[in-house]
This record gives sequence, C-alpha cells and structure tokens, in this order.
Amino acid sequence: MQTFRALSFILAVSMLLMAAASARQLRTDFYNNTCLNVEHLVRSAVTRKFQLTDITAPATLRLFFHDCFVWGCDASVLLASPNNDAEKDHPIDLSLAGDGFNTVIKDKAVVDSNPQCRNKVSYADILALATRDVILLAGGPFYHVELGRRDGRISTKAIVEHGIPLPTFDLVQLNTSFGGHGLSQTDMIALSGGHIIGVSHCSHVFKRIYNFNLTHPIDPTLNLSYARHLREFCPRNMDPNKVIDMDPTTTHIFDNAYFKNLQNGSRLFSSDQALFTDLRSRPTVNFFALNNTAFREAFKTAMTKLGRVGVLMGSKGEIRINCTRPN
Ligand code: HEM
Ligand SMILES: *[C@@H]1O[C@H](CO)[C@@H](O)[C@H](O)[C@H]1NC(C)=O
Ligand SMILES: *[C@@H]1O[C@H](CO)[C@@H](O)[C@H](O)[C@H]1NC(C)=O
Ligand SMILES: *[C@@H]1O[C@H](CO)[C@@H](O)[C@H](O)[C@H]1NC(C)=O
Ligand SMILES: *[C@@H]1O[C@H](CO)[C@@H](O)[C@H](O)[C@H]1NC(C)=O
Ligand SMILES: *[C@@H]1O[C@H](CO)[C@@H](O)[C@H](O)[C@H]1NC(C)=O
Ligand SMILES: *[C@@H]1O[C@H](CO)[C@@H](O)[C@H](O)[C@H]1NC(C)=O
Ligand SMILES: *[C@@H]1O[C@H](CO)[C@@H](O)[C@H](O)[C@H]1NC(C)=O
Repeated sequence: MQTFRALSFILAVSMLLMAAASARQLRTDFYNNTCLNVEHLVRSAVTRKFQLTDITAPATLRLFFHDCFVWGCDASVLLASPNNDAEKDHPIDLSLAGDGFNTVIKDKAVVDSNPQCRNKVSYADILALATRDVILLAGGPFYHVELGRRDGRISTKAIVEHGIPLPTFDLVQLNTSFGGHGLSQTDMIALSGGHIIGVSHCSHVFKRIYNFNLTHPIDPTLNLSYARHLREFCPRNMDPNKVIDMDPTTTHIFDNAYFKNLQNGSRLFSSDQALFTDLRSRPTVNFFALNNTAFREAFKTAMTKLGRVGVLMGSKGEIRINCTRPN
C-alpha cells in the first residue's frame, strides 16, 4: 500500500512536471483562447506595409535575426534607452532600417484594436509572425510560426558585437556564431539565403573592391565583372549612407538565386562568399542552388529554430504595452 502510494505520488509529480515542461514550449496555437485571430490581424497589417515599400520585407527579416541573436527572440531590440545604450544604439544595429520597427508597431496597433486581443500578444511573437509574413509576401516559403514568447525587459548595447556575426567572418567563425545559438552549419547556410533581399551600405564592400591586400586590390573570390559593377555603384569617396542591392539579379524576390550568385562570385560580403569558397560548405551551396525546394524546406526549418533562440516563456518576461519601454 505504502509502495503504491509512493508510486502514485511519483507518477502525479512527474505528470505535473511534464505538464509544466510542455507549457514551456512554444506552440502554434498559443493564442487560441486569448486572440484567435492574431495571425489574420498581423497578416492584414503586414500586407498593407509590404505594399508601401520594398524595404519592409528585408528590414523586418533582419530585425528578427538581430533580436534573436542578442538576448534571444524577446523584442529587446525594440527597446529604447534614455542614455542611448540599448541594443538598437549599437553601430551594427543603427543600420537596422526603420521600416522593420514601424512594421511591428503597426501590427501591434492592429492586434490591440481588437478588444479580445488587447495587451495579450507579445511584441516578440508579433515580430516572429510579421517575419514569416514578409517572407511569404516576397515569394518565400510559408511555415507555421510557433508562439508563446514573452517580451524581455533588458536591452544592452555592449553585448551586440558578441552576438551578431560580421560580414568579414570565415566559415568557422560563422559556424561558431550560429552553433552558439543551437543552429547547425546547414541552418546557417540556409538562413544566409535571407541575403537574397534587401540592401547593404557600400562601406561593407570597400575593402573587397579597392584594397583587399598588397598584391590584390580586388578580392580574387569576387567575380571580376561584378567587382566592376560594384566599383561603379560604390565609388571611393562617396556618401557613406549610400546603399546597394544585395542581389545582383532578382532583387526583391525571395528565391534561391543567392546560392547561384555564390557560384558566380557575385556576393557583397566575404561571409557570404566563404560558404562557397570553403569546401566544407560548398556542397550545401551547390545543392541549394540546384534545388529550390530543398532550400525552402531548409529555410523553414532554420527559421523555426531561430525563433526558439533564448525565448522567455510562462512567467518570465512580460507582454509589453509600449514598444520602446518595459512596463
Ligand atoms: C551569416 C551571418 C550574417 C552576416 C555577417 C550578416 C551581415 C549583414 C550586413 C553587414 C548587412 C548590411 C547592413 C547594412 O549595411 O545596412 C546585412 C543585411 C541584411 N541581413 Fe544579414 N548577416 C548575416 C546573417 C543574416 C541572417 C541569418 C538573416 C536573416 C535570415 C539576415 C538578413 C539580412 C537582411 C534581410 C539584410 C538586408 C537589410 C535591409 O535591406 O535593410 N542576415 N547583413
Ligand atoms: C486551436 O484551434 C485550432 C483551429 O481551430 C484547432 O485545430 C486546435 O486544436 C486548437 N488548439 C487548442 C489547444 O485548443
Ligand atoms: C560546424 O559545427 C559543427 C557542429 O555544430 C561541426 O560538426 C562542423 O565540423 C563545423 N564545421 C566547420 C567547418 O567548422
Ligand atoms: C592576397 O590575397 C591573395 C588571395 O587570397 C593571396 O593569394 C595573396 O598571397 C595575398 N597577398 C598578400 C600580400 O597577403
Ligand atoms: C552565373 O554564371 C553563369 C555562366 O557562368 C550564368 O549562366 C548564370 O546565369 C549566372 N548566374 C547568376 C545568378 O548570375
Ligand atoms: C561572373 O558573372 C557573370 C554574370 O553573372 C557570369 O557570366 C560569369 O560566368 C561569372 N564568372 C565567374 C568566374 O564565375
Ligand atoms: C529537391 O529537394 C527535395 C526536398 O529535399 C527532394 O524531395 C527532391 O527529390 C529534390 N529534387 C531533386 C531533383 O534533387
Ligand atoms: C511609449 O513610450 C515613449 C517613451 O516613454 C513615449 O515617448 C511614447 O509616447 C509612448 N508611446 C505610446 C504609444 O504611448
């Protein structure tokens, strides 16, 4: 009898623990009972914003990536600081386009205009949904977004440079950066395909086209005709705010051309080109260049994993009311 009681006690406790553990997992139906329409509300707002400007899609996608890689996907990148020492004040994040922030703010307003949903949905989840929607609108794959993230209260400039990879990274550095967030080399390669849309400041490409090293002014992994095109677009003593399309071919369309560009040496960053130059990642690049379906599947998987990085759930964090400051 004693043994039976002890056993059923253990059973009850372990069931409770399991319930608690599953409550701590993101779920696609997280808002079923609190804001059933959340996906529809976000989609309608994102669609309107997407139609206004081409920057909406790349700006939102990059914002999500930078949020997730610094303090996890907790909308900390949206927080402002009175002394300018929030994440978004770091020089790397100063180049995050305002349209990404505006997209999230507009989406939240639309969600909150529904009385059932008011102050129920986190900014972190809205950013995750908006990101999926802009990818789809740009021609990329659809995937179900896991939800249940809560918003963080901390945002610090100082750690941004330890979280965000640099465009000068080689394969091992990229692999280490993404591996630190639970993402595999294949995830990293698929996610780099996100560089199919958007723009970069010319400053990131100067070294590769003007003073690579003492013997080679131009990075030899760069396609020469593309390098000439870059020199035309990004003259030496130019306005540092000038930007250039990341994709030399199918700008604004989300497809696997990124990997075809790599095969031709037609990519801005050496962190991109390294995926093709290094023989340990080249087979994956060639595979994605050949098979768009395989790329789309890998991208969906990797985005879902990216969306799980460092999330706050349950009683952690909060449902932030004002985008730019903790409650
Ligand atoms: C692999 C390591 C990565 C590096 C080194 C990197 C670096 C950069 C740099 C330097 C820019 C240009 C910023 C500017 O000058 O305005 C940029 C833009 C961009 N990145 Fe990345 N990135 C990486 C990964 C990713 C990932 C994983 C995503 C999303 C899945 C992403 C999405 C974007 C987008 C969409 C833009 C264009 C932004 C715009 O047009 O406003 N990047 N990235
Ligand atoms: C949430 O709603 C969907 C669609 O109505 C349904 O399939 C799913 O079972 C619901 N989940 C929960 C936990 O109620
Ligand atoms: C990348 O990291 C994985 C482990 O996540 C490792 O198996 C692989 O060898 C690494 N590749 C390179 C090129 O460092
Ligand atoms: C310049 O870069 C090329 C290609 O990476 C290399 O072969 C060459 O040795 C480098 N030259 C110097 C002086 O570093
Ligand atoms: C790459 O170059 C090949 C010829 O070498 C060409 O057929 C192909 O269209 C190019 N792809 C891109 C994306 O520029
Ligand atoms: C450079 O790019 C052009 C145009 O995309 C392509 O035709 C050519 O084959 C590329 N050269 C190399 C060496 O990949
Ligand atoms: C392309 O990739 C998909 C998904 O991985 C696979 O099912 C399909 O067989 C591949 N097609 C070719 C032609 O390799
Ligand atoms: C959000 O907070 C900021 C800073 O305190 C304030 O300037 C802004 O007006 C607030 N926005 C709304 C919509 O209340």
